[in-house]
Order: sequence, then C-alpha cells, then structure tokens
Amino acid sequence: MNRNLWKIVTLVVAVTLLFTINLYGQQQGGPPQGGGFKNLKVFPQDVPRQQLMGAMQNWTRALGVTCNHCHVDDKSSDEKPEKEVTRSMMKMMQNLRQNAADFLPGDRVQKVSCWTCHRGSAKIELPAPPTPPQGGGQGGQQKPPQE
Ligand code: HEC
Ligand code: HEC
Repeated sequence: MNRNLWKIVTLVVAVTLLFTINLYGQQQGGPPQGGGFKNLKVFPQDVPRQQLMGAMQNWTRALGVTCNHCHVDDKSSDEKPEKEVTRSMMKMMQNLRQNAADFLPGDRVQKVSCWTCHRGSAKIELPAPPTPPQGGGQGGQQKPPQE
C-alpha cells in the first residue's frame, strides 16, 4: 500500500471512532441528568437545572429581590442567612401542600406559594389593623389578629 492510502485508512478509522464515542455518549445521556449542583439540602440532588432555575426566578419575583438577597457569588455557599431561612420556607410550603387538603377544599391546595404570603416583598407587610370601635375598646395600640 502506498502512503496516501494509509493516510486515508487512518482518517476513516479515526472518524468512525469519534462518531461511535459520540453516539455512545448520547446514549449514556438517557434520562435527564441533574444540573450538577453542589449543595442542595431540600431540592432532590438530581433536580434538572431548568426546574431549579425556574424556582429561583419565581422566588426573586415573589420576594421582590435579586439573586444576591440569598446568594454570594458562589451560589453553593451558605454564607447568607436568607438562604437558610428559605430552606425552612420550602419545607413549610411542602408541609402546607401535603396537609392543606385536610383544611382547604379542592384545588386551593396548589395555590399556596411564596407569593401567598410575600406578595412581592421579603418582609411581610401586614396592613394596619382597623381602628377599634369607639367607646368600649381597651384603647391604645391593637395588635393584628393572631388567629
Ligand atoms: C429567596 C432566596 C433565594 C433567591 C432569591 C435565589 N436563590 Fe438560589 N438558592 C436558594 C436556596 C435556599 C438554595 C438551596 C436549595 C436547597 O438546599 O435545596 C439555592 C440554590 C441555588 C443554586 C444551586 C447551587 C449549588 O450548587 O448548590 C443555584 C445555581 C442558584 N441557587 C442560583 C440562583 C440564581 C441565579 C438566582 C437569581 C435568579 C437565585 N438563585 C435566587 C435561595 C435563593
Ligand atoms: C405562610 C406564609 C409564608 C409562606 C408561604 C412563605 N413565607 Fe417566607 N416568610 C414568612 C414570614 C411571616 C416571614 C418573616 C417576615 C418578616 O420578618 O417580616 C418570612 C420570611 C422570609 C425570609 C426572610 C426575610 C428576608 O428579609 O429575606 C425569606 C428569605 C423568605 N421568607 C422566603 C420565602 C420563600 C422563598 C418562600 C416560598 C418557598 C416563602 N418564604 C414562603 C411567611 C411565609
């Protein structure tokens, strides 16, 4: 065989090999992989990137904040206390959704979200309680109704 033929053979073998590796890689892809996140304690470890980022976007809107309300540059760091509070909020919401059926009829369960309470603000801003009726009341400042 002359040298040119060898070159062609080598090239064909190389291309076939690359193609096979590529196909193999795609098959390995299989079910959607997690986003490769480092420090998840409430979301499942294999949560798809799109789903996690969707939640992050929702939270910024529900609380009227930007990402750095809860995060430093390294998003996997737990440096900011707001991030840990949010984990508690997530668990509280999971609990509400699981048990709300005992208290809320039908599809109202699904309506409980960060927005339900936060309404675009990280701090919960309760409206001032109505002024007590004149005459009989204890007078002075009244606390918002607790129950
Ligand atoms: C209200 C607080 C809050 C806001 C706002 C927020 N995040 Fe998060 N983020 C969290 C919490 C809490 C976790 C960890 C969830 C867990 O432990 O399962 C997290 C996790 C992440 C992770 C995974 C990091 C890792 O490797 O573990 C990324 C990436 C991320 N956030 C990006 C963002 C981006 C981008 C924004 C803005 C669009 C944003 N976040 C807004 C609270 C927040
Ligand atoms: C049942 C009502 C309720 C729901 C639902 C709820 N929160 Fe909260 N959240 C509160 C209250 C009350 C506080 C205390 C607010 C204050 O200090 O004024 C709070 C405080 C917080 C704080 C700390 C305050 C701050 O300055 O950052 C964060 C962060 C937060 N919530 C995130 C969330 C996220 C994200 C969700 C949805 C996963 C959520 N919350 C759902 C009621 C709720």
